[in-house]
Amino acid sequence: MIDLNKVVSSLQTVIDPNSNLDLVKAKLISQLKTEGNNVFFELDVTNIGGDLRQQVFMSAQTAIKETIPGAEVHIHMKSAGPNAPAANTVLPQVKNIIAVASGKGGVGKSTVSVNTALALVQKGYKVGIIDADLYGPSIPTMLNIQGERPKIQEVYGKHKIIPVEAFGLYAISIGLIIEPEKAVVLRGPRLSGVIKQFINDCVWPELDYLIIDLPPGTGDIQLTLVQTVPVTGVVMVTTPQKVAVIDAVKAMNMFLLSNINVPILGIIENMSWFIPEDAPDKQYKIFGEGGGQELANMNKSVLLGQVPMIQAIREGGDTGKPQVLVEGSHVKSSFSSIADELIVQVEKRNQNNSPTQIVNVSK
Ligand SMILES: Nc1ncnc2c1ncn2[C@@H]1O[C@H](COP(=O)(O)OP(=O)(O)OP(=O)(O)O)[C@@H](O)[C@H]1O
Ligand SMILES: [Mg+2]
Repeated sequence: MIDLNKVVSSLQTVIDPNSNLDLVKAKLISQLKTEGNNVFFELDVTNIGGDLRQQVFMSAQTAIKETIPGAEVHIHMKSAGPNAPAANTVLPQVKNIIAVASGKGGVGKSTVSVNTALALVQKGYKVGIIDADLYGPSIPTMLNIQGERPKIQEVYGKHKIIPVEAFGLYAISIGLIIEPEKAVVLRGPRLSGVIKQFINDCVWPELDYLIIDLPPGTGDIQLTLVQTVPVTGVVMVTTPQKVAVIDAVKAMNMFLLSNINVPILGIIENMSWFIPEDAPDKQYKIFGEGGGQELANMNKSVLLGQVPMIQAIREGGDTGKPQVLVEGSHVKSSFSSIADELIVQVEKRNQNNSPTQIVNVSK
């Protein structure tokens, strides 16, 4: 009699090329049973590209035969067929994809992305981050992983990139792949190619949240993103001042275009007030006030939270010590409550709206 557990564990060594998860985790195996030395199961190949189906089939068969010599393996390949509802085949293992955008540069998108992502990690979620700023990648420095190189894994003859883990967060950035000063040579189609690689050619594990730190404004990178992956929603970052809000509205409107249609999950106001290190009770509203709330009112979304301006954030950004990880930091609680509010807004969005569709620009 064949041990079913042995069959399962051998199938766990075979990778689904679509999600990069093993066949069991990817839920592609059904009707598994054994009779004498025969093993029977169904393999769902709906989302596996035609040329790879045979390879997956062979790998599954070999894996079982190697663990259980003498086993006769009977695999029935099934496919949902052309009339089945379209499944999400891009990053099916990622529950929520959140883009962080702004109108103006330098308002703190990357700082907010990293610290919010780590606040989510601290709450027990599995989180990844894509540094989509290909001109000025800052995530490697902020996470203190500059100089590290992602490992490469071969999956069915294709080279896949394994994101680098830092503080429990899975990260990928062009800064981990080429020298940051060389990133400026990337142009139009190359930029799109890199964004697509970050999504399709990385071995992302199962994630609750994948945060995408965008460059400022609206450009090729934003457009490529919404054409490559179904973005759950956008978080806008702004400072409290009028000019930042005006620019943020323009950037926000791109996501709301009827053919793009990515919901705004909320606004994060950064640098809301300055707290001097030697006088932590003081608050100086250097950039004015009210911008975040105003932006939220404009599109009936919510202010997810405000982050004060403190020297330690800038220093921690430069030295790879995210402040949300520092006990007693003035901004630990800000990012923790922003993460809580973000979770609530994502849940609401998922209950009220249908999943985002990948944008087809030719429409
Ligand atoms: N709340 C804050 N307090 C102090 N410094 C901050 C704060 N937020 C961001 N900074 C600093 O401001 C600078 C710009 O921040 P960051 O790189 O996060 O902005 P960005 O919007 O991602 O910029 P870019 O548009 O270039 O991508 C960094 O040096 C960062 O450390
Ligand atoms: Mg940035």
